[in-house]
Amino acid sequence: MTGHVANFSAGPSTLPASVLEEARDQLVDYQGTGMSLIEMSHRGPHYTEVHNETTSLAREVLGVPDDFEVLFIQGGATLQFSMVPMNLLGEGEPGGYVVSGSWAKKALADAQVYGDAYAAWDGAADSFRGMPSSEDLEVRADTRYLHVTSNETIGGIQMFAWPDVGVPLVADMSSDYMSRPVPWERFDLVYGGAQKNLGPSGVTIVFVRKSVLETTNRDLGAYLRYDVHADGDSLYNTPPVFSIWMVGKVLKWIVAQGGVAAMEAAARTKSGILYDAMAASEDFYRSPVDTDSRSLMNVVFRLPTEDLEAEFVGAATEAGLVGLKGHRSVGGCRASLYNAMPLDGVEALVGFMAEFKADRG
Ligand SMILES: Cc1ncc(COP(=O)(O)O)c(C=O)c1O
Repeated sequence: MTGHVANFSAGPSTLPASVLEEARDQLVDYQGTGMSLIEMSHRGPHYTEVHNETTSLAREVLGVPDDFEVLFIQGGATLQFSMVPMNLLGEGEPGGYVVSGSWAKKALADAQVYGDAYAAWDGAADSFRGMPSSEDLEVRADTRYLHVTSNETIGGIQMFAWPDVGVPLVADMSSDYMSRPVPWERFDLVYGGAQKNLGPSGVTIVFVRKSVLETTNRDLGAYLRYDVHADGDSLYNTPPVFSIWMVGKVLKWIVAQGGVAAMEAAARTKSGILYDAMAASEDFYRSPVDTDSRSLMNVVFRLPTEDLEAEFVGAATEAGLVGLKGHRSVGGCRASLYNAMPLDGVEALVGFMAEFKADRG
């Protein structure tokens, strides 16, 4: 695609060029109807087909069992920080949270508004350098679920071993969704926004165990109830049609690439090249996180000084490598290597890093 840069942004983020081109070609006149899909009724035949296809593709790509519902909800993963405890926590049932970084902290803070939610582990004292193991967690009696953040987008750490503490898991998978398999038997609910691995912002995909819906809290406004979304096949109100349409296209692209297994293998290759280049740089590019928790999706790194970091980000942008500035809360640099980041984008980055070091190191 002409004029395209290598986009390392953390989200919204790079999408497959072929998907963007296809959407461009189909946007104005959908299948010869003389109007755009996003101008049509969400209850008409064209959108219904898209909706159902995206739902089945989401199931197919992640191997979701039949006893889970697939829901498309607006409000981002942020709304799920509230919906999860609102729906799942009852009297005398606390929710445990693995506080692994900025996103987990937000999830816990919102849960505490609605129920008895507590930190089963908190990595703050260790500057969120790594994920805990099951033995590190302190899970209270009667805990309804343990909430985990599978990948901390800002801190650049990823959970590779799911906690085994005898309670169902709930996971925010926003930044590594569909880049690894999910062992469904361990989970009651999984959620994530689309705008990293799956499409534009505007839709959050929630997978929830059907049996869980039998006991969720009914004393909530309709939009906030998972059972209402499930009963209406995510069409209780007007869904985010454009986002769902685009997610369907990205899911088809994932299938064509070889599915989640191929995404995971590619993520290992891409992040491996970058981590190896950092290791070979004699600490010019330094990872601030523990080796065994280093994210395959968001590679964070520091340079010797903040001035050099600013210079690096500026020079990289001029070279067509954009979105490398770390999150404003932590500084440094971050390269997000989501599913759609091509290998040659990472190779270009590694080449640029070597040149920059040769110049300024
Ligand atoms: C891990 C994680 N959780 C939650 C969020 C918040 O998502 P949203 O902006 O869709 O509400 C983000 C956003 O970057 C994220 O990375």
